[in-house]
Amino acid sequence: MDMTPLPKVSVRTLVYDTLDLVLDNTAKQAGLAIVRGPVGIGKTFALRQLADEYRARGVKVYMLTCRTEIAGRINGAANEVLSQENIWEHRDVRAAEVLWELLRSRVFDPWDPKPSLLITDEAQGWKPNVLNFFRDLWDLGDPARNGRSDALAFGIVMVGNSSFINRNGVEEEAKFGPLLSRRTISVDLERPSKGELREYAAKLAGPDAARALAAYGERTGSMRGIEKAYRLARSLSDAAELTAQDIEFAIRYLGGLA
Ligand SMILES: Nc1ncnc2c1ncn2[C@@H]1O[C@H](COP(=O)(O)OP(=O)(O)OP(=O)(O)O)[C@@H](O)[C@H]1O
Ligand SMILES: [Mg+2]
Repeated sequence: MDMTPLPKVSVRTLVYDTLDLVLDNTAKQAGLAIVRGPVGIGKTFALRQLADEYRARGVKVYMLTCRTEIAGRINGAANEVLSQENIWEHRDVRAAEVLWELLRSRVFDPWDPKPSLLITDEAQGWKPNVLNFFRDLWDLGDPARNGRSDALAFGIVMVGNSSFINRNGVEEEAKFGPLLSRRTISVDLERPSKGELREYAAKLAGPDAARALAAYGERTGSMRGIEKAYRLARSLSDAAELTAQDIEFAIRYLGGLA
């Protein structure tokens, strides 16, 4: 774990705004969104920040990041959400029911609508059995979606990369097969623009260093490229202000790692 503190900067990128739109729409219609995008473009960053914003506005938001340990385990995935909410009762025998009880919400209440969202990050990793489980859970909200305003539902947002490495070590396209028939919104995110990369770099460093950072961001096509180069340069230099040389030096040691 890299402990070098990063200054708290945030750029309102198209990736950010797109995810905002997707979350808002999916919350309001208790929809099912599939969002795919290249690595390091700021998906997780935006999701974390948006989750806080939405919670502050009274939306129920649950975040679940797919990891190898739970990728193919329905109870593992369900229990992880429940743990975050400090729910320990009955979850071992009926995790699915308890999760539904947590997620369901009066999304379509005409007087006091209460949207509810399950966001899963790194979603390209979910195995078909877990995707089927999410689909079945989401389907429980159909009466609400079909017009019963007193019935309960929730939205799901799947965010991940466009491809993943399968168990044979081969790159495979992330298709989200079991969910395709249900999706209400589907987006493929683009890499950040030059302008966005420059804006991010300029928020981290002075003009010369920022130019070098932005150039590296363009080469890697990612926000992460800039973040990594900045972090390494910062940890290698004691000077108050980083120079372009500090950045170039760091980039050489990253060797395309971003
Ligand atoms: N809008 C932003 N404003 C400021 N910094 C950002 C922004 N987006 C991304 N970053 C920086 O770039 C880093 C990488 O972004 P992030 O981890 O969100 O990418 P990602 O798209 O989730 O990548 P992956 O596909 O590998 O999960 C973040 O840790 C953060 O430092
Ligand atoms: Mg991510």
